[in-house]
Amino acid sequence: MPLAHDWLGLTGRVCVVTGGGSGIGEGIALELARAGAHVAVLDRDAAAAARVTASLDTFGRKSLAVTCDVTSEAGLAKAHMTVQAELGPCAVLVNNAGILRPGALEEVSLETWNAVLAVNLTAYLIAARTFGADMLTAKRGSIINIASLAGRHQQPRSGAYSAAKAGVLMLSKQLSVEWGVRGVRSNVVLPGLIRTPLSAAFYADPVFEAKRTAMIPARRIGEPDDIGNAVAFLASDRASYINGGEILVDGGLDGMLMDLVPRPGF
Ligand code: NAI
Repeated sequence: MPLAHDWLGLTGRVCVVTGGGSGIGEGIALELARAGAHVAVLDRDAAAAARVTASLDTFGRKSLAVTCDVTSEAGLAKAHMTVQAELGPCAVLVNNAGILRPGALEEVSLETWNAVLAVNLTAYLIAARTFGADMLTAKRGSIINIASLAGRHQQPRSGAYSAAKAGVLMLSKQLSVEWGVRGVRSNVVLPGLIRTPLSAAFYADPVFEAKRTAMIPARRIGEPDDIGNAVAFLASDRASYINGGEILVDGGLDGMLMDLVPRPGF
């Protein structure tokens, strides 16, 4: 077991975070580096990835910014070679890159539908196959897939987003049984309402923010490091018996449906 200062035992572990240039991915990269890992930040936005890796330098670990569109199999293969050459074999993959394209299903174009599925679901499989190869060789590794409450609960005008996130829940479980026997775990984190550039528009109006906050038992909007802490745990050997799991990181929001039902006397 590692010493108390390395409770997670992630020191020197090579972790890859897709979409690590912003929001939740940035929070995940920071927490992994804080825990001692070497972190590769993959993002299609080169400047964003470079900004995040510059901030990781304060932890004194190795970090690497890799410009990569995760929907490209060739792009991911190239990114994999870069990570191997600069940091070593990948031990932890965090599938996080995602896009939001809301819209009613009768209106969503096939182009938008396919684009959302490509980033939010198909890329998770390609990245798992690409970086998971190192883990299967080592007979040890952890894949953490970032889904959403939207993958569990239908929501009007969610477009392809909810369907893609529901797919992530099952993709992760599939990986957990297919690769669990070979030493590679796969788990899902379901963030609730997290303040990031993706969701910034929802919090521009303080009235909307207050209404959202009032729905959450924790009475606050989540921050990227809330997700980062859960991911760091799942990445670590402290979670070595957790495979095929789903962890809600939502301040209790998921359980609030019955709170919406009016009851006389309450
Ligand atoms: P964000 O928009 O702040 O960050 C997403 C990052 O992914 C950006 O840096 C973007 O450049 C990158 N990215 C997008 N498409 C890419 C591609 N094709 N190739 C490489 N990089 C790409 O978003 P946020 O909020 O940090 O979301 C991260 C994940 O968390 C997403 O999967 C999202 O669905 C999920 N999520 C977010 C919630 C929230 O409230 N913000 C709630 C539930 C889930």
